[in-house]
Amino acid sequence: MPLKVGVLFGGQSGEHDVSLMSAASVIKNLNKQKYDIVPIGITKTGHWYLYKGDIDDIQKGDWVNNSYKAILPPDPSYKGLLYFVDGEMKLMPLDVVFPVLHGPRGEDGTIQGILELANIPYVGANVTSSATGMDKVFTKKLLEHAGLPLAPYLVFTKKQWYGRGEEIIEEIEMKLGYPNFVKPANLGSSVGITKVHDRRELTEALNLAARYDRKLIVEKAVDCKDVECSVLGNENPRASTVGEILPTREFYDYQAKYYDTTTRLLIPADIPGDKIEEIKELAIKAYRAIDCQGMARVDFFYENGTGKIYVNELNTIPGFTHVSMYPKLWEISGLSYEKLLDELINLSLERFQDMY
Ligand SMILES: Nc1ncnc2c1ncn2[C@@H]1O[C@H](COP(=O)(O)OP(=O)(O)O)[C@@H](O)[C@H]1O
Ligand SMILES: [Mg+2]
Repeated sequence: MPLKVGVLFGGQSGEHDVSLMSAASVIKNLNKQKYDIVPIGITKTGHWYLYKGDIDDIQKGDWVNNSYKAILPPDPSYKGLLYFVDGEMKLMPLDVVFPVLHGPRGEDGTIQGILELANIPYVGANVTSSATGMDKVFTKKLLEHAGLPLAPYLVFTKKQWYGRGEEIIEEIEMKLGYPNFVKPANLGSSVGITKVHDRRELTEALNLAARYDRKLIVEKAVDCKDVECSVLGNENPRASTVGEILPTREFYDYQAKYYDTTTRLLIPADIPGDKIEEIKELAIKAYRAIDCQGMARVDFFYENGTGKIYVNELNTIPGFTHVSMYPKLWEISGLSYEKLLDELINLSLERFQDMY
């Protein structure tokens, strides 16, 4: 009997549209002999639907019109999705769920929490690791604790910024200087992030970041290449080769990530072989530092000139579109997209069995 795999897509974060693209390619690449796919959409306002239309239409955004209203009850006696057809409630049992959701309320432990309560195995990191990976401040603390190299940074709350902005600007100028990066602690896809070159831009950037989060990070800008490594596994995670992003914009911003067709990936990255090995080791250390399971893409800065490596962040549900780095790195490391999905599902079942 094929496993019933729920694929969650959409969601309430600013990365809703990216999730539609990721989920469509996950669904296309899942082995239809092994899995019965149950596409489950979440709208931007948080309503759940069982999708019954064509997979190619998911990305168009009007998938709701071809769906049944649904809910996922946390009550474990259902272990599945309840949906409504002409006022009648039906149950769609689920053996495993793949949350292909990026950003807050998808990648941050909230969805994972519902799946835990419902007693349904799910792909990827558990509640704690998901929440940690989403929060750049917590991530940095754990990475520092594990002795991993980070770019110098400062953290402020929105209240502190509004309350004593001048002091904060002075502290940033003294400790980090320009250029620097201002980021909200809890987003993704470069939303709310600014590269700052002077005091005027700094004020604007902090105001912008404060619109998205209560916690703000300011980080010294590293003159670098963006390089990334895919990690896969539970107890014994392994690392793929390392890839490099070749953006044509000033940094890897939202536009560059999803719309700019000139953004290219270079695999393997154009750096010395021993640096690739070092990054792979650091990627596994970082993965272990947040006690990650299933998968994560670990992102680094490779400093131009010095070859120094800094860990940037971990993404516990990395992009899965046909042009995304996570599956591409595995493909080039010898693991096809389809086999990668098999492994992720197996890892989720293994973790679930270990727990009970
Ligand atoms: N300290 C930094 N030095 C150099 N580039 C940076 C720095 N911080 C961020 N960037 C650039 O901005 C991009 C997005 O920042 P990141 O922290 O990865 O946020 P997100 O979670 O939105 O991906 C990075 O991929 C990189 O290109
Ligand atoms: Mg990033």
